[in-house]
Amino acid sequence: MEPRTVRFSHTRFTELMIPSYANFGGKVHGGIILSLMDKVAYACSSKHAGGYCVTVTVDGVEFLQPVEVGELLHLDASVHFVGNTSLVVGIKVTSENVKTNHVKHTNNSYFTMVAKGEDEKPAQVPELILRNISEVRNFVDAMKRREVKKEAYTKMQREHDEFILVEDMDRLKDQRCKVAFTSEEDEDFSSLISF
Ligand SMILES: CC(C)(COP(=O)(O)OP(=O)(O)OC[C@H]1O[C@@H](n2cnc3c(N)ncnc32)[C@H](O)[C@@H]1OP(=O)(O)O)[C@@H](O)C(=O)NCCC(=O)NCCS
Repeated sequence: MEPRTVRFSHTRFTELMIPSYANFGGKVHGGIILSLMDKVAYACSSKHAGGYCVTVTVDGVEFLQPVEVGELLHLDASVHFVGNTSLVVGIKVTSENVKTNHVKHTNNSYFTMVAKGEDEKPAQVPELILRNISEVRNFVDAMKRREVKKEAYTKMQREHDEFILVEDMDRLKDQRCKVAFTSEEDEDFSSLISF
């Protein structure tokens, strides 16, 4: 398998935001944008892999600004990282006002995709040729993001396992929630709670 450049699989989708994409507030529904992001991630990763890819995880989805009906949504996808069978596709979403040509940055996300072979098993992907500092930076960032996510996941799993009702209830003191247990089993603990 010949290594491939980032440019080889760079993919741009542009779609007009039509009225049927609107949510109840009149802005474009987040699900429409997510669906387009999944499609562009598929197109980009499959081109690099030379075959079928599936979405495994999505990181960094955060809608920074609303997208208006009538705007042109641009999705730029490129491969940031390749592992053995997995790839990370970085997607930059921008929205363009067709009347003023004002372009706003809407979203940056990272889709982890896995290539599948004819047998439906994960298949090796070509190496990535990094041609400039920005591509090296994206590759290293993806490695770091993966490490940070793994550490955060392990820490959260430990926190979940170490939950102690009486101690952790203290965290709720200044929160906007009301504890109103309904089962007798849970009510037995109420006397142990100090507020
Ligand atoms: C993702 C999937 C292929 C992993 O299968 P698996 O038999 O566990 O395969 P492996 O453990 O060999 O993992 C394959 C690759 O996925 C990566 N991977 C698996 N789970 C991951 C996760 N949660 N986050 C990031 N990468 C992950 C592994 O690190 C490995 O990458 P590498 O080969 O580059 O090192 C499998 O779980 C799957 O097919 N899931 C459904 C995906 C799908 O259908 N998505 C569409 C939406 S429904």
